[in-house]
Amino acid sequence: MTTFAPVQSPAGEQLASRIARLKTARRAVILAHNYQPDEIQALADHTGDSLELARTAARTDAEVIAFAGVRFMAESAKILSPQKTVLLPVPEAGCPLADTISAEDLARARAEHPDAAVVVYVNSTAEVKALADVCCTSANALPVVNSLPQSEVIFAPDKNLAHWVARHTAKRIIPWPGSCCVHNNITLRAVTDAARLYPEAKFMAHPECRPEVCDRADAVLSTSQMLRYARAETAGTFIVGTEIGLLYRLRRENPGKQFYPLSSRMVCRNMKLTQLHHLATALETLPHPVEVPEDVRIRAVAALERMLAVT
Ligand code: 13P
Ligand code: SF4
Repeated sequence: MTTFAPVQSPAGEQLASRIARLKTARRAVILAHNYQPDEIQALADHTGDSLELARTAARTDAEVIAFAGVRFMAESAKILSPQKTVLLPVPEAGCPLADTISAEDLARARAEHPDAAVVVYVNSTAEVKALADVCCTSANALPVVNSLPQSEVIFAPDKNLAHWVARHTAKRIIPWPGSCCVHNNITLRAVTDAARLYPEAKFMAHPECRPEVCDRADAVLSTSQMLRYARAETAGTFIVGTEIGLLYRLRRENPGKQFYPLSSRMVCRNMKLTQLHHLATALETLPHPVEVPEDVRIRAVAALERMLAVT
């Protein structure tokens, strides 16, 4: 039989109770991305995709935001809620995709294409967001691009998401050649193997996957869009083309359905760094709160707020 509650040792239960006490004492909220370890998702106040978590961070009246995710997500929370203390329990949890472009790189691309709008995926540093006209996530990239008056768009840093947008818009997309190793390393071979094992399954792919992988999908979706799709579809079996952390919610929310990872290699090492004891220590000692220089924040918040206004 499949179980949905993460296995909790007595030590894990003690940590979970300590975190609950600290959360109340600190007037804190715990936000967790859909790729976080099961036991972190189980105790988070809100679990979601990048867009949902950015919206929650902008709205919360908590004094402390403990962000179980990676740095660009905690930075976005700080940019949107500068008066709050934002904690990233494991400070070195980064996103290799975000590191594929620097502010200098983007400034150069802008100078080479002076008539193009600049759309920056939220998987980017605060300095890069500060140079964008507007940000986007995988959930809203297409409406964001289509909302712009320009006919040319520099799209950074994910080339696969850029390619997917280019396939669905009339605008000319100028992609930055970055990619996510977790999604981009998956080839058509994995799709063929999974389809052979589960021929009846619906295949959901994240748009950070390669174009030829997305082409084989029944639906190309952000992580929370996958949750909604799986709930709404009558199919009973799904192949999940994204990081394996999403399986926790898919299985918990759809007990009668079967979910299989496209590949067991789809593990984001950075997303798995956060453990319960990191969360407890962060709430206890409030170490190294996330900071964004005010001049950068003011420009980055404009790009994030333009995105939030579109969708
Ligand atoms: P979502 O915006 O779909 O949550 O994806 C974020 C991410 O990091 C994908 O790798
Ligand atoms: Fe970054 Fe890829 Fe991990 Fe998402 S899955 S946080 S894009 S490295």
